[in-house]
Amino acid sequence: MNGLPDSLRGALARLSEGLSRRELAERAKAISDGYRSGGTSKPITEAHDALAYALVRMPATYAAVSACLTALTAARPDFAPVSIVDAGAGPGTAAWAAAGTFSSLSDILLLDTNAALTELARTLVAGDARLSHAGVRLGDVRQSLANAPTSDLVIASYLIGELEERQRTELADLMWERTGDTLLVVETGTPAGYRRIIELRAQLIAKGAHVLAPCPHDGACPLVAPDWCHFAQRLPRSRDHLKVKDAEVPFEDEKFSYVALSRVPAEARASRVLAPPRVGKAAVAAKLCTPQGVLSAEIARRDKPAYAQARRWRWGDAVSGDFVD
Ligand SMILES: C[S@@+](CC[C@H](N)C(=O)[O-])C[C@H]1O[C@@H](n2cnc3c(N)ncnc32)[C@H](O)[C@@H]1O
Repeated sequence: MNGLPDSLRGALARLSEGLSRRELAERAKAISDGYRSGGTSKPITEAHDALAYALVRMPATYAAVSACLTALTAARPDFAPVSIVDAGAGPGTAAWAAAGTFSSLSDILLLDTNAALTELARTLVAGDARLSHAGVRLGDVRQSLANAPTSDLVIASYLIGELEERQRTELADLMWERTGDTLLVVETGTPAGYRRIIELRAQLIAKGAHVLAPCPHDGACPLVAPDWCHFAQRLPRSRDHLKVKDAEVPFEDEKFSYVALSRVPAEARASRVLAPPRVGKAAVAAKLCTPQGVLSAEIARRDKPAYAQARRWRWGDAVSGDFVD
């Protein structure tokens, strides 16, 4: 579980001091109702909308992006990006997650078209030594990227779902052009989010990209509808989060789909755990995506070391070994 860093949590708490939780909850609800009916972040027009969005969504998107960054660094342990672009940064979530993962970062650029979110992103980065020098630019991401230098790492977190198909295709090419090393694209873990990911993945593999994660291969995705590739991060909800989200359950599961594409091939290609494994007395059963395709592996208890290892597998983990159906 990747929780928000203290400086970010503190800054959000300070910004919400004295504000009505009911008002923030109503704003957050209006925003998420808009998203649920296929909308975008355009209804976020005021500072309090942006804050409500950040309070409700940042813990989850931060956890998802951090999990993706952990997966891509497992595939490329030597990757130490100096520069990053957070495309469609919103409150700056992906930049914060990247700063928490890579101490090498010094050149940080946030791009977004929403004025209220951009202003919030500026306020938040100003309070953290690792991010205070970040550039925060307001404008359409395609225009901003066209004028931006190449970066070691480009991240688009929950952005491409806000674009029409043609814009998405254009943006994918542009992001890849501006990627010096690795591009990470994260989407909601729905069939539609997954579809956007595999379309972008195929488009950029055709341009020479290599998949670092989650796939252990650069071939077509072997999953067949209605199945889709997605992962989850469970995160606890703070008291404030419960209030603003108007929720009762003290945790949430953020489902996400992603692809990390690189100009440099992965050092090792591990298989990926595609669902929560079932741990039984006789065996661990796990759905795996392997270089040879998707299979249901059974790791029998009689193979003690392998069974002990498989008991610790979690959905989304990269795992090594020769697996059979
Ligand atoms: C769902 S939010 C995600 C924010 C942030 N990346 C995160 O993961 O929490 C989508 C963001 O994309 C931005 N966006 C949508 N279309 C854009 C465009 N054409 N140019 C720049 N930003 C855009 C929105 O303003 C919004 O901040």
